[in-house]
Amino acid sequence: MEPVSRRTFLSDSIAAGAAVSTAHGYTRVIGANDRIRIGVIGCGGMASGHMRNLMRVKDAENIEIIEVSDLYDKRAEAASKVTGGKITKDYRKLLANKDIDYVLIATPEHWHAQCTLDALAAGKHIYCEKPMTYTVEEAKRVVAKVKATGLKMQVGVQGMSDESYEVAHQYIKEGALGKVVLAQIDYSRNHKGDFWMYDVDDDAKPGVNLDWNTWLGTAKKRPYDPERFFRWRRYWDYSGGIATDLFVHRVTRYIKALGLTFPERAVATGGKFQFGEGKAEVPDTFNMLLDYPEGVTIQLVSTMANDVKVNHYLRGHKATLEFTNTGFTITPQNMYANEVKPVTYQKKGAEDIVLHHKNLQGAIRKNEDLKCDCMLGYYGVVAARMGVESFRRRKYIAWDKAKERMVNA
Ligand SMILES: NC(=O)c1ccc[n+]([C@@H]2O[C@H](COP(=O)([O-])OP(=O)(O)OC[C@H]3O[C@@H](n4cnc5c(N)ncnc54)[C@H](O)[C@@H]3O)[C@@H](O)[C@H]2O)c1
Repeated sequence: MEPVSRRTFLSDSIAAGAAVSTAHGYTRVIGANDRIRIGVIGCGGMASGHMRNLMRVKDAENIEIIEVSDLYDKRAEAASKVTGGKITKDYRKLLANKDIDYVLIATPEHWHAQCTLDALAAGKHIYCEKPMTYTVEEAKRVVAKVKATGLKMQVGVQGMSDESYEVAHQYIKEGALGKVVLAQIDYSRNHKGDFWMYDVDDDAKPGVNLDWNTWLGTAKKRPYDPERFFRWRRYWDYSGGIATDLFVHRVTRYIKALGLTFPERAVATGGKFQFGEGKAEVPDTFNMLLDYPEGVTIQLVSTMANDVKVNHYLRGHKATLEFTNTGFTITPQNMYANEVKPVTYQKKGAEDIVLHHKNLQGAIRKNEDLKCDCMLGYYGVVAARMGVESFRRRKYIAWDKAKERMVNA
């Protein structure tokens, strides 16, 4: 059972605008008309998109970015220019700013958990980029701390702000598809700079304008390598490659649509089939099968060397649901053509980071339900990491439900 939200509890007894200092840090109680103040931790590629978009809606949404933190000075300076926010190199000092209501965490994966736990300890609400954490153990710690503090945490799978998946879930619960047995989804790309060959910026100088040792965090210490700093998704120490960078977006959709939690078993295959000569450790072609205890397989298909799509189908015994660019359709199987009515659902939301932030702001101001809370974040991390482990160990991986951990199948 979810604990009573700390914010709900606080707002019952304390006026909006008041600040509350508790064992879990310092949190401002925010009323419907109060300005929400944001701090940014990690100001690279994705955060730049967040900041630009948030600046566009700052007056309409009554929000302000007041402080930014990055280990590479050039990025912090660029972020400050866009937002007007003060620069603080050490994010823990940013967390000490009592005026900040929530933080955007957009560091590489291996820093998500530490930044999140520190932010919760400081009483901040959170928008953390996907995957919620780098490891399953970290995800468990984050979930426990979110529950203990009652603070709001939105995980950055912004596709969850497209309501198609929750609406599809209602249809499925009511039996519109019959038993759903197989779910297919893909995320493939094939364009310049792909396989995460992002530009290396020669201005970055460790010890001068870049704190490389801190960037490494708990990962293995090694001398500065611009390949790792700018193309970290290509290395296991900081990322799970396609599984945690791309499939997390996809599997979370299907977890929501099908009402799932943890897989029972996972197996993954692939390799460096196209970009084999480079330094990257992660595969460029990666495919995963997840069996869930409810009796459904999710198939995830990806290559970074060919972008032909696979249709996004949920295959039920009575009908097929297909997610499209505009929502979804339900088409009966021939045998059930008289029983199942075809459906065309036109979506209203979208896969959109502004909508996703607005949802978090609504949760902070008015206790709205989050579109991608920490439990959904946790389920996504488990699915993706089981795929990574299967691929790396060349084994089927199972989920030990009682101990909530991965084991050999
Ligand atoms: N939701 C999406 O569609 C989407 C798309 C792209 C990236 N992302 C996610 O956004 C996150 C960042 O990805 P990116 O492409 O922007 O990476 P990036 O390397 O461009 O930026 C990360 C920044 O974090 C900084 N950083 C690292 N550790 C830090 C620390 N301890 N304190 C302060 N700053 C620190 C780095 O210096 C770097 O500038 C990742 O989790 C990624 O998966 C999400």
